[in-house]
Parts: sequence; structure tokens; C-alpha cells
Amino acid sequence: MKAIVLDTDDQFRLTDLDEPTPGPGQVAIGVAYAGIQYGDVLVRNGHFPVPRPFVPGFEAAGRIIAVGDGVDQARIGEQATALTSAGAYAEVVLAPAALTFDAAALDPRVAAGFGWVTPTAYDLINTLTRVRPGESVLIHAAAGGVGTLAVQFAKAAGADRIVGVVGNSDQADYAANFGYHQVLVREEFPDALADEHFEMILDPIGGPTRHANLERLAPHGRLAVYGNIATFEPVEISVNDLLMQGKSLLTYNSNLLSQTHPDRLADSARQALQLVTDGHVHIDITAEYEPADLGAAIQRLADGATRGKSILRIA
Ligand SMILES: NC(=O)c1ccc[n+]([C@@H]2O[C@H](COP(=O)([O-])OP(=O)(O)OC[C@H]3O[C@@H](n4cnc5c(N)ncnc54)[C@H](OP(=O)(O)O)[C@@H]3O)[C@@H](O)[C@H]2O)c1
Repeated sequence: MKAIVLDTDDQFRLTDLDEPTPGPGQVAIGVAYAGIQYGDVLVRNGHFPVPRPFVPGFEAAGRIIAVGDGVDQARIGEQATALTSAGAYAEVVLAPAALTFDAAALDPRVAAGFGWVTPTAYDLINTLTRVRPGESVLIHAAAGGVGTLAVQFAKAAGADRIVGVVGNSDQADYAANFGYHQVLVREEFPDALADEHFEMILDPIGGPTRHANLERLAPHGRLAVYGNIATFEPVEISVNDLLMQGKSLLTYNSNLLSQTHPDRLADSARQALQLVTDGHVHIDITAEYEPADLGAAIQRLADGATRGKSILRIA
């Protein structure tokens, strides 16, 4: 089969590999499209060490072509979307059956865009910070894959003020389509907010922005930390200060959740998938790339030059 490998020199190359066979609890998927996400940047940059050459790709949409022991044979032929730990940038990928969902009701391009980002956005709002009706929410990287979904889940949960932060005014115009009440460009944060504080803040940014976010939490507010787009520099925080101010810092790691509690992640993914299928939540596919252009696509994501969700056409 054709597959894209990330080589020791950080380049992505199209190559021929043996087709994988599903083990117990796994399915093999003939991949039509794969989702591109920030994890690709982290893997390329060495933040998630993997042995190279490595076949990346964490979000696959296509047809189940074989199943391993313990998986219902009737799933063969199912049009599915799957969360994978590697390998989706290939003609055939293996995925845990428990994290492979029937997506026959979705366009396969949208099914590829579902990926990890949609259950993540769902969990950040609904199971991690548990946004309540009437609460206010601040979302960084508001025009991105997680951001454009989180605003929709926050609205569905009843948030009555949702503010986004993005890199430039074009991104602000784009993000405004998803239900934000206000979108700031990065230089305006936090001063343009006057003395406004939020019950929930989504922080995939890190560094000084993390401190600024804690300052902007209302009493009993929750800061959800789920990435380090700007920097991996450690952020020192006084837990005693948080206690005195009644603020909470929560973290979310979907990759770890898939290993420790796959059923919980699967449950959230199913709830999120239903909202997408019913048309309540829109996954916006804004770019489709060919395999030869994967390196450029991932560089665009690293540069902050993307919006919504990008996908790769495999077959
Ligand atoms: N913890 C988990 O389980 C989990 C799961 C999935 C994703 N994530 C994390 O969620 C985040 C978003 O992932 P995604 O795939 O949806 O990517 P994305 O939001 O589509 O892309 C990242 C966005 O970050 C913004 N950005 C780039 N450089 C920045 C900087 N220096 N400071 C602030 N913002 C910057 C850019 O938009 P603007 O410049 O317009 O703001 C860019 O579009 C990533 O940190 C990813 O690792 C975590």
C-alpha cells in the first residue's frame, strides 16, 4: 500500500509498505480521507517522540475492510470515522474498534475532519469544565479546528457570552461565523476586555497567555489547559492563590484518555458525532490536500495560516 512516512530529516515521503492486519479488538480501514491536526506539528517537531520512519495521521475516514478477533464481522463494509494513534496517512490504517464510529450519515470529508478535535471540543465544554446555561466562555485559537467546534458546543450548552481570540483580523471575520459574540485579535487580549472576567477559558496557548487567562477567570471559574501552541515553557502557578480566589485549573489529554478510559472517550465521541450528524454542530472543511503536499499543509498549520479543518485526500 502507499503510505506517507515522516523521516529522520523531518520530511514527509510517499512510500510503499505492507498492508497491516488487524489484531484483537482492531479494525482495518481503507482510508478515503484523513484529518490534519496540530498533533502532526507536535510529532514533526519532536514534542511527541516516535521512532522514525513513522507513518503519522491520527484521524481517518473510510470503509472498514477487515476486523480482528473480538470485533463483530458485520462491521466489515461500514463507512467509519476513527481515532488512531498513528498511520492514517496511508491507504490502510488500523484503529481500535472501540474508537471507530459509524459515519455513514456524514460526507467522508467531514467524517475525516471529525477526528480527535470534535470529541476534544465536546469534552472541554461538557465533561471537563461543565459549562452551565448563562455562563461566559473565552476561547483562544478561536478560528482553528478545536476553537470553531468549542464555540458551537458552548452555545449548545447554554453559554450566553462567548469571546474568541485569534491571530489577525481575517481570522476574526472567519471565526465570527461560528457564533462568537466578540472576536479579538491577539494584540487586543486582554486589554480590550476592560474588566471582563469569564467562568470558563480554553487555553491551548501556554506561557504568558496562561497567566493572563488566570487573571481573567471569574470567581469559581475554570481554566482548561489542553495544549502549548505558543511555548512549552513551564508556567508556575500558586495553588494557594487559586484557592483564595476560588479558581480552578483543569487539564485534558484525549490521547491519555484513549488509553486509560477508552469507553469514556468513545461515549463523548458518540455524543459529539450525533450533534454533527443532526446538523447542530458544523465541521468546516476549508482545505483539501494531496499526499505530496502534506508537509506544506502541516507547515501552514504550524504557521497559524489555517482556519477550520484541513484534510488529506488518500483515495
Ligand atoms: N489535549 C488534547 O486532548 C488535544 C486534542 C486535540 C487538540 N489539542 C490541541 O488543541 C490545539 C488546537 O488544535 P487544532 O488541531 O484544532 O489546531 P488549530 O487550532 O486548527 O491550529 C492552531 C491555531 O493556533 C493559532 N496559533 C498559532 N500560533 C499561535 C501562537 N503563537 N499563539 C497563539 N495562537 C497561535 C493559529 O490560529 P490564530 O493565529 O488565528 O489564533 C492556528 O490556527 C492544539 O494545541 C492541539 O495540540 C489537544
